Amino acid sequence: MSSLLQRVATTTSWRPPGYLRAHRRVSNALALFGGWRVFRRDAERSVPFQATLRSLRAHDVYYEPKLPRYWQLFQLAEATVVPGAAIAEFGVYRGGTARILADIIVRRAPDAELHLFDTFAGMPSADEYDYAGEVYKPGDLADANEEDVRGLLAIDAVRPVFHVGPFRDTLPLTGPDGELSLTHIDADLYESVLEACEWAYPRTRPGGMIVFDDYAFADCPGASRAIAEYFATRSETPIVLPTGQALVVKQVSGP
Ligand SMILES: C[S@@+](CC[C@H](N)C(=O)[O-])C[C@H]1O[C@@H](n2cnc3c(N)ncnc32)[C@H](O)[C@@H]1O
Repeated sequence: MSSLLQRVATTTSWRPPGYLRAHRRVSNALALFGGWRVFRRDAERSVPFQATLRSLRAHDVYYEPKLPRYWQLFQLAEATVVPGAAIAEFGVYRGGTARILADIIVRRAPDAELHLFDTFAGMPSADEYDYAGEVYKPGDLADANEEDVRGLLAIDAVRPVFHVGPFRDTLPLTGPDGELSLTHIDADLYESVLEACEWAYPRTRPGGMIVFDDYAFADCPGASRAIAEYFATRSETPIVLPTGQALVVKQVSGP
């Protein structure tokens, strides 16, 4: 019996109907699973990433469901952040992902500016932002505190620049003077994400990156709509990642 099976498996002249399709499906599933396993294993083995996670836990800003996104952001930032260019984050909340970016600055671009945009008092008011179709409500995520985030980011070689208030009020006033190597957008709402794109994209250096936290999450329907809409008229296409994030790499000859 076993030699019959072996013959079926190795012969090229005859295979059961559907064999090739089934074979491809199984190999694809195994590759996906294998990729995910290696992704997690590399996170566990990364000494600097584990040190960053320890800082998040020590400051009580670690959020377990975000672990794959933390690792993905860490890796993308390692690949993108360069000396002489600034970094920005829209949607800081209690500073978890900002601390990841700060640790990368120490390693890759000491003294780079880290621009941080948030109310630091929760989602902005409904007088300023349209919440139609959104899951988040005004005042959600209000348990943030600017002073605590300042403490979390008080690291030699990091220059955090706080832009406190609704994006709409702080954006027109602010730099940075240099170009951006990386922007992390984690602002959940359609209008917020659109404003962040409008500010960050033209300031991003060729080869620089914008990473979106919220692309494939059911509780942020406006975010993916804003990203799709903004990039519909640009030469770059957002690339969705298996973590639910998305990224855009600025082309050399973008508008
Ligand atoms: C999901 S939280 C960010 C989480 C953070 N990146 C992390 O993982 O540690 C989203 C944040 O976006 C901020 N936000 C959203 N829209 C905003 C706007 N228009 N102006 C200022 N802050 C905004 C909220 O205040 C909230 O702190």
